[in-house]
Amino acid sequence: MNNKALFIELINNSVSAIKGLNYYPDGHPAKEKPLYNIHSLLIKFLNENPSLRIALIEDTLVIENTPFFESTPNAEKLLELLDEKKIGELIFFKGITIEEIKILFYLLAMGDEEFKNVNIDDFLIDHGIKYIEIIEKERDIKKKGKRVYAHAKKYIVEAMNEIRLGKVPRMEVAESIVTSFDRILKRDESALIALTMLSDYDNYTFNHSVNVGILSLALARELGWQGAEDIGIAGLLHDIGKTKTPIEIINKPGKLTPEEWEIMKKHPSDGAKIIQEMNRFRVEISMMVLQHHVRYDKSGYPRLNNRNLLEGTHLITISDTYDSLTTLRPYQRRFDPKEALEIMIGKLKGKALHPKYLEVFVQMLGIYPVGSCVRLRSGEIALVTSLNRTSPVTPQVKIIMGKDGKYLKKPVQADLSNKRENQKRGIISLVNPILLNIEVTRYI
Ligand SMILES: [Fe+2]
Repeated sequence: MNNKALFIELINNSVSAIKGLNYYPDGHPAKEKPLYNIHSLLIKFLNENPSLRIALIEDTLVIENTPFFESTPNAEKLLELLDEKKIGELIFFKGITIEEIKILFYLLAMGDEEFKNVNIDDFLIDHGIKYIEIIEKERDIKKKGKRVYAHAKKYIVEAMNEIRLGKVPRMEVAESIVTSFDRILKRDESALIALTMLSDYDNYTFNHSVNVGILSLALARELGWQGAEDIGIAGLLHDIGKTKTPIEIINKPGKLTPEEWEIMKKHPSDGAKIIQEMNRFRVEISMMVLQHHVRYDKSGYPRLNNRNLLEGTHLITISDTYDSLTTLRPYQRRFDPKEALEIMIGKLKGKALHPKYLEVFVQMLGIYPVGSCVRLRSGEIALVTSLNRTSPVTPQVKIIMGKDGKYLKKPVQADLSNKRENQKRGIISLVNPILLNIEVTRYI
């Protein structure tokens, strides 16, 4: 067995071991067997090498120097599991015993609640572990958000390439991305929503897909809906049909001709067809993709012939509109979040967009949405970087300009929910960043 094959065996047995520990009673062979397999695989490798290192590097599982991309579902599972437990590296040393492996996997199979109270270093020491080292990842949720965001973007890029090559993208990857987003949203909603403000001119389509995925999922969660994840997946994949639209039409600045419009209008049904070819597809996901340009008042395209809009479709339409308005595109200036919400409420509520869900969306983004530019009582100019859900008027901000109107060399973070800070620096008004020539995304 070469090293790569050994590593794959190791990954597969690790995933089985964790499943076994969670689902089978003590003494059951499904519980014990993978642990013994892991032990003998490690012994085999460690006979010739001093140690074996499993690491999470960027968004990839790496064993020794071999990266395991999304190609194997078990590698993805193991990556997710280690990531969830904030484990950055697992190192096994020569001398490892089956008892140590059992203890390690007991730790890896722990549920969130139990694991929360565990200090990994203490745990290893308490159990006398000598031949295993665990290195914890930084606990910064913002970094984790960025990592999953990058992963999602990569997935969209690859999925679109695959479709162009006549292949079918994998649904499991979209599922695991949305599950990760969901976990991050539970811990810090604004960290993830802030990322949707990071638009990047050249990668508009990919960022937009990810942003709509995040915003639809966040809104579905805000509404407390079952099936929020499928809405997130539909948001992520809503424009996948554009792979069939000629690039000149997609990137055309200015108005499309009637003929070009007819071609453009096919992307929802093309998208729905692509999704129906994916493994594990759900009919609701393809329906939401099909309907994402049908407006609340049933105008738009394609014509629905009396069929009702799925509830989830409304959330995708709202997120799609918001992200389109706040994004710089070849033919459009970028509106700041507050302006975008005002347009949506003033012009589109009850017509293009579902009025009730739009209200919840506005509430979710807050009075000063992440990415807004504000003037403070101190005369300084700041950007909203994170919301305090219990107190929407006192978000966290990053001060970028002093009262003299000059940019600070280094932006200063301030939490306005802190009473003294708020007395000194409370928000007086919103400012249009364009008038001050501020590139908001540089600071988020
Ligand atoms: Fe679209």
